[in-house]
Amino acid sequence: MSAPSQTPELPSSVAGHSFAPAPCYAAGPCLDLFCCEGGAGTGYALAGYAVTGVDIVPRPRYPFTFVLGDALEYLEAHGHEYDLIHASPPCQGYSHLTPEAHKGKYPKIIPALRELLRKIGNPYVIENVAGARHELENPVMLCGSMFGLRTRRHRWFETSFPVSAPRACDHSEMPLLVTTASKASRAKRHALGIAPKSVKNAPEAYGIGWMSSDGLKEAIPPAYTRHIGEAARRHNDQAQRPGPL
Ligand SMILES: C[S@@+](CC[C@H](N)C(=O)[O-])C[C@H]1O[C@@H](n2cnc3c(N)ncnc32)[C@H](O)[C@@H]1O
Repeated sequence: MSAPSQTPELPSSVAGHSFAPAPCYAAGPCLDLFCCEGGAGTGYALAGYAVTGVDIVPRPRYPFTFVLGDALEYLEAHGHEYDLIHASPPCQGYSHLTPEAHKGKYPKIIPALRELLRKIGNPYVIENVAGARHELENPVMLCGSMFGLRTRRHRWFETSFPVSAPRACDHSEMPLLVTTASKASRAKRHALGIAPKSVKNAPEAYGIGWMSSDGLKEAIPPAYTRHIGEAARRHNDQAQRPGPL
């Protein structure tokens, strides 16, 4: 696998939301490991990073430069080329939605991933679900309500630089349902040429308007990683500022 050379572009339809200021890719390259259809990657683009995603499955809806392959292999070979590295390893081994009896089938790769990220030494982020928070070191929890989104979708982020939640959760408003329809019901609607029932809520709930329902099941709202990407940039700027003489 070689590093891609395309210039990434933001999707024109980022949920129809106006994100200001427009991204200018002034922050350098960001690697989005286990990228799926680009929920996390879009947040880093909105924070000004030029994003490259890696996934083991082809992801034609991924909005940025895409590399098909194994995330850890790509990280080992190319991680040092990126100013910021994000990883969202599969959560099935940790998720409360996976039956206990089946959890053993899914590899828990967070420790190996962290070891490799630390060896590379560049700023990193590891994201996962509540079930994995004990495997993450000093994670910060982000919730859609902290960003004015109609979702809770709590996710935990271990970061190698300081990040705090923008505010406390506010669960006073009912979250919107996204991709709750069963696979069978989605297939039936697809056969009838009807859009999946709940995907229509994705822009308001997640700030996402370009994904399939499978992508939405996996995605984190871009607002979370925009917040983290901006914190990484601030931290980097401070580290580069000359100290008092
Ligand atoms: C939880 S999803 C990531 C969601 C993404 N961060 C977002 O916000 O849209 C995990 C992804 O990891 C991919 N994946 C699983 N094993 C992988 C591997 N060994 N290398 C690369 N990608 C892998 C899956 O295909 C899936 O798309």
